[in-house]
Amino acid sequence: MDKVADQYEAFPYPARDPADEKTRLIQGSPSNIVEIDHFLFGGQRDWSQPFRALVAGGGTGDALIQMAQVLTSAGKQYEITYLDLSSSSRKIAEERAKVRGLTGIRFVTGSLLDAPDLGPFDYIDCCGVLHHLPDPDVGFGALRGALAETGGMGIMVYAPYGRSGVYPLQDGFNAVFGHLAPNDKLAAAKKLFEKIPADHPFRANQRVGDHNNSDAGFYDLLLHSQDRAFSVPELYGALDRAGLELVSFLEPALYDLSRLCDVPTGMGVRQAQTAAEQLRGTMKVHVCYVAPAGSDTQPATGRKMTAVPHLGDTPVAKIADGITRGAQPTLKLGGEKIKLDLPREVAPLIAGVNGRRTLAEIANASGMDQILFGALWKKVEREFGSWGKLHYSRLYR
Ligand SMILES: C[S@@+](CC[C@H](N)C(=O)[O-])C[C@H]1O[C@@H](n2cnc3c(N)ncnc32)[C@H](O)[C@@H]1O
Repeated sequence: MDKVADQYEAFPYPARDPADEKTRLIQGSPSNIVEIDHFLFGGQRDWSQPFRALVAGGGTGDALIQMAQVLTSAGKQYEITYLDLSSSSRKIAEERAKVRGLTGIRFVTGSLLDAPDLGPFDYIDCCGVLHHLPDPDVGFGALRGALAETGGMGIMVYAPYGRSGVYPLQDGFNAVFGHLAPNDKLAAAKKLFEKIPADHPFRANQRVGDHNNSDAGFYDLLLHSQDRAFSVPELYGALDRAGLELVSFLEPALYDLSRLCDVPTGMGVRQAQTAAEQLRGTMKVHVCYVAPAGSDTQPATGRKMTAVPHLGDTPVAKIADGITRGAQPTLKLGGEKIKLDLPREVAPLIAGVNGRRTLAEIANASGMDQILFGALWKKVEREFGSWGKLHYSRLYR
């Protein structure tokens, strides 16, 4: 067995207790169903049609359980294939599905390089896996080969600058303890970790904390034997070579250089996003949605009044109340606090969002004429949408 397979057999990731499924649902990105619809299906997917998804490198099952549970609760049909090399991770994912009574899942132990044999899929989740492959290009290509032409993928890969200090520690620990079996390697590294000086770039990095969460987290962050990060241009390179195109980053505003400074004349989108990543210096990961090259898949917008907006876990009543009193909402993203800029008149529109009402229904209830509504809604979309908080989906219609 290779070292990566050994690691995830010994330390299924992330650490999860199936009994916890009785009390909470872990939700996240990529693979929130509403987000998938928004970025890959124009917010207008017909959910009466079965959803065929692959979770590639599914680990202990977070994305699998999230998708299956949300679709089950919404009364929609799906077939989700879970694929991972690690049978101990699969066991935990299976148990989690069992505790919830979820069906419609096919569990496969194997390599994502064989994904094309299992497809085609409308959607592929691949979160935190491609950067651990010996040749990520082969992985990107295999997933492209498993994707339906009308489908898309949600991926997460590591980003370099927000992981400052991680790679010197990984290299150092692996140089001295790399020959040990996973449990011994962990024990030795934890002891040595105590001696790492307080001003080591890793200790100064407030954004990484997985090593404090669990043994699986410590191992994954600091002892991985195969781990690389993708800068923005490196990510674009991998997508280009695989015949994929970026639809959107989850939080497009983070990559929007114009929010930091004037964009030099003639600078292309990719270069500007590259500079934004370098100037922010804090991104640990890139979460994005991608589709087959040439498909020209675009994220949903509120141009169609049949669109149903969602504001995720945003407390809409509280925010609307604050806006009415002239207080601007603040979003917390990573370690940053982002103040939005919205006029008082949008308060009733925000208060009307419940993931079920269409824009037409929200407009009617507000009593505004269409032109005023359209102008105000654009501002809501720009502020919440560009920070990854507003999505469109008719899932619950
Ligand atoms: C960091 S974990 C991420 C798990 C899960 N996607 C998540 O985000 O919670 C990486 C997972 O990828 C799996 N993996 C690594 N290489 C793989 C491959 N070639 N084929 C399938 N799974 C792989 C590992 O076994 C592990 O479960």
